[in-house]
Amino acid sequence: MKEKDFFLHKNQYAISNNKEGEVFKRSSSNIALIKYWGKKTNTLQIPLNSSISFSLEKVFTGTKLRYHVKTPPYKKNFSVKFFFFGKKKFIFWKKILVFFYRISSYCSYLRDYHFTIETYNNFPHSSGIASSASFMSSLALCIMEMEKQLVPSLTHSFFLKKASFLARLGSGSACRSVYPGLVVWGNHKSIIGSNNLYAIPYPYKIHSIFQNLIDTILIIDETPKKILSTQGHQLMNTHPYAKERFKCANKNMDCMISILEMGDFQEFGKLIEHEALTLHAMIMTSNPYFLWMKPNTVQIIHMVWDLRIQSKKNVYFTLDAGANIHLLYPMNERLFIGKWIKHDLMFYCKKIIESICF
Ligand code: PMV
Repeated sequence: MKEKDFFLHKNQYAISNNKEGEVFKRSSSNIALIKYWGKKTNTLQIPLNSSISFSLEKVFTGTKLRYHVKTPPYKKNFSVKFFFFGKKKFIFWKKILVFFYRISSYCSYLRDYHFTIETYNNFPHSSGIASSASFMSSLALCIMEMEKQLVPSLTHSFFLKKASFLARLGSGSACRSVYPGLVVWGNHKSIIGSNNLYAIPYPYKIHSIFQNLIDTILIIDETPKKILSTQGHQLMNTHPYAKERFKCANKNMDCMISILEMGDFQEFGKLIEHEALTLHAMIMTSNPYFLWMKPNTVQIIHMVWDLRIQSKKNVYFTLDAGANIHLLYPMNERLFIGKWIKHDLMFYCKKIIESICF
């Protein structure tokens, strides 16, 4: 689908079909295996390489959207009230207004309503897990639910594509949170249907070893990020190694396709660790430079590597844009790895959150 397919003009619906309503949607957070880092200049979240992620079943945001139509004379401004765990949050509210502004030409009805948005995460507040992906995805799904009332002929497949398209405009990686399981975003020559505008469910064969993988998130640092991902993406525009990184990410995607089919867990693990360290290498060599890892991040990485040598267990890590670690391992290793985390790793962590990649 093209961008033009997502526009909805005033003559395509009747507000009288949907004067008021309430919708609720839940979206999971996701962890990228091949990372998105860098976007095209002067665009809104158009990635410079393709990415693939797992949605995390037990780490989600729930959003309720209530709306009622404005009474004339209409004010052109957006009318939004926002509550996070029942409390007003000015910073999030501002982000929502920016989001509404960005999507308003695709959802021309937004200025016709008063909105109340209430949201919560099921994971601890300030736990170091980015909630923007799960929140923007859940909000985009709510908006699409509302749009469906206005345009009842809208198909399920279009519903999800447009939800992903809108979520992307809120936060790039949010477009992957619309779907469960393995999700691809960004044009890649070997993945049919992949594109820069919205994410798609991974369309090829996945070996059973990757079903129900466990992701244990080790929270090492709970403080808000010093460098936001928006700034980080921007730094890639002048990064001396950027071109090589984009080539490498796309090559890694090709490797990932065959690994996912063949079920080679060791190769899978090596690839995700390589991707994680490459992401961190990019930020460490940007100008200005940053270091996201904390001493305990490095400590745990070495402990993971040592455990693999000693026990031959299938446990590998990936990292997001921060100090926290995601440990990925198959369900059949759960007992052993779970005990090891409790006995050996807890000392280095603030908290742990176990999720299933579904
Ligand atoms: O969606 P953003 O703009 O917050 O960027 C996310 C970037 C990473 O989380 C580091 C990687 C990814 O693909 O999710």
